[in-house]
Amino acid sequence: MTDSQAAGRDSRTPDPMQADRNLAMELVRATEAAAIRAVPWIGRGNKNGADKAAVDAMRKFLSTVEFQGRVVIGEGEKDEAPMLYNGEIVGNGEGPECDIAVDPIDGTSLTAAGRHNALSVIAVADRGTMYDPKDLYYMEKLATGPEGVGVVDLARPIGENVKALAKAKGKPVEDMVVAILDRPRHEQLIHDVREAGAGTELLLDGDVAGGINAARPDSRIDMCVGIGGTPEGIITACALKALGGVLHGRMYPRNDEERERALAAGHDLDAVLTQDDLVKTDNTYFVATGVTDGGLCAGVRRFGDRIFTDSLVLRSRSGTVRRVEAEHLVAKWL
Ligand code: FBP
Repeated sequence: MTDSQAAGRDSRTPDPMQADRNLAMELVRATEAAAIRAVPWIGRGNKNGADKAAVDAMRKFLSTVEFQGRVVIGEGEKDEAPMLYNGEIVGNGEGPECDIAVDPIDGTSLTAAGRHNALSVIAVADRGTMYDPKDLYYMEKLATGPEGVGVVDLARPIGENVKALAKAKGKPVEDMVVAILDRPRHEQLIHDVREAGAGTELLLDGDVAGGINAARPDSRIDMCVGIGGTPEGIITACALKALGGVLHGRMYPRNDEERERALAAGHDLDAVLTQDDLVKTDNTYFVATGVTDGGLCAGVRRFGDRIFTDSLVLRSRSGTVRRVEAEHLVAKWL
């Protein structure tokens, strides 16, 4: 009898004693670096300056990580962005071939204004498995925790989803909280959520944090819905796969020209894509470091000769959720 059989595990469940590498534990240094380098830009009214500082730091640290990452979701096409561009290969050129999605700062406006909830994030999955949202800026999204599996469906009216999730969570609809980006385009959605009996948490920016919070047991948010960035949708899908949650997405072209281009590129604009369509593997990694304070991570703080960072590190294969609190010597970052 094998150790697995003796322990009562079925053959698909990894043996915790068969330890292997958790790539995310190395990737977290890149989000930490991006968050630290963004600090001088917090509250300075210059979002591009903040973004550039974060990108440069992220790229530098990614180059030390043993993997061959192909940027599927970066800061745009090479000609338009001197940043981490789509198609760029990052990593030290050895190790596993992966797709990588980066958002050196999710919440550049929040950072520039000195507001809460800005994060630096990276998601990684096996090569060729991430949906490439090229040509499409926005998607409709619906994110929940594990209780929403088989219960919610983006194709259904929001009121039905809220009620169904409340039932699955065993709580009154009145206690449900739905996070939505505070945008004029969401006026009807916000109305419908409230009409169903739930409350809203309106986000200035940052629906990656909103989506992940919807899947965390210690968060007041039960669901995150609305139209937001496609890159953020894919990144959130990687995180929610590790948390066992739900991320439904439907592409949302901004105008006829975008619609035509997307159709020509082969996107199905009517399909509700699940987290498994958006990231076609069970091997995903997600890391986030707080830039400014937020519900998911504390922001970067400096006390005396030390800089403190707070990060979340997720891995789908193992289902581990790690909180990495690090202290960095200020002298090393001058
Ligand atoms: P960036 O700071 O990376 O630009 O994104 C912030 C953000 O709020 C995302 O979290 C969200 O998906 C998207 O922008 C929403 O777009 P818009 O501001 O156009 O509504």
